[in-house]
Amino acid sequence: MTTKQPVRVAVTGAAGQIGYSLLFRIASGDMLGKDQPVILQLLEITPALKALNGVVMELRDCAFPLLADIVTSDDPMVAFKDVDYALLVGAMPRKAGMERGDLLGANGGIFKPQGEALNAVASRDVKVLVVGNPANTNALIAQQNAPDLNPGQFTAMVRLDHNRAISQLAEKTGKPVSSIKNLTIWGNHSSTQYPDLSQATVDGQPALDQVDRDWYENSYISTVAKRGAAIIEARGLSSAASAASAAIDHMRDWALGTPEGEWVSMGIPSDGSYGIPEGLIYGFPVTCKNGKYEIVQGLPVSDFSRGKMDATAQELSEERDEVRKLGLVK
Ligand code: NAD
Ligand code: LMR
Repeated sequence: MTTKQPVRVAVTGAAGQIGYSLLFRIASGDMLGKDQPVILQLLEITPALKALNGVVMELRDCAFPLLADIVTSDDPMVAFKDVDYALLVGAMPRKAGMERGDLLGANGGIFKPQGEALNAVASRDVKVLVVGNPANTNALIAQQNAPDLNPGQFTAMVRLDHNRAISQLAEKTGKPVSSIKNLTIWGNHSSTQYPDLSQATVDGQPALDQVDRDWYENSYISTVAKRGAAIIEARGLSSAASAASAAIDHMRDWALGTPEGEWVSMGIPSDGSYGIPEGLIYGFPVTCKNGKYEIVQGLPVSDFSRGKMDATAQELSEERDEVRKLGLVK
């Protein structure tokens, strides 16, 4: 029997496709540990509350021992009240032929009131993960509208890209995913992202000694960066179970820590490290301990990497300019 007090976890877009995978994994203890009870606080738009009620019925039918309570609402001031963790998923997915940035006009406006509500009512230590696309710039919008919270509490999901990058390298080398360490997704969760193998190892040996450079530069990077579009093409819907799994990984590592000597990729506000303009929500290599993340410092950056890292930063600066014009950030 656990003696821990429940923590409050908000999930937005809870009646959507990602929500349908995510909620059950949170409630079963995959995210915060098998000894941590949770109260789910679920936000949806008013027309989706009926469908959300059906999801709640199913959650109850699982009789999860760790699920202490469920709150549902169409008001962020209710759903975010005292939350310790907030997973901002609710937003429109892209369709075939679109870039994620094309969603800024439709989705950007969701994240200003949600940032304001987090600022007003969430726990002062809330950890926020933005999944809804375009995730990095939506995270920036939420962060800028929550001036009483530390900017570092707002993060964006590049973990799905990180997991895709591991899986593609495992397939190429014929080695298990568990043998692959320390690759990085730099930048935006978009087709300009830079999946960087320069420090990655497979079975403790440099990854780039085990694959052809031409494959890495001309096939691997774009396969990882365009995997979301390939899923949409194949399924007719954007990724959902893999996105939920990556969200679990992101929050679990942030809350419970990364393994000694290993790093993961998180979209976080740049502090200027690696020459990335301050404030942009950018994918960096991070280690996590005691509920805090830290950027891995001092990694060598080749000319090839520099070009890719700057290009994705440039795209994020342009997205920031766009949402500035919409009055969503300063
Ligand atoms: P979906 O359309 O199935 O579900 C989205 C849900 O959000 C819907 O139920 C909708 O009613 C709800 N919603 C819309 N506006 C809302 C608001 N203001 N407040 C609360 N809820 C709201 O979409 P999905 O497949 O679950 O994807 C959700 C988002 O996640 C999309 O933007 C998608 O592109 C993005 N995504 C990101 C990643 C990533 O790696 N960062 C991966 C996959 C999907
Ligand atoms: C993904 O990477 O699968 C998601 O961001 C969905 C998309 O639009 O590609």
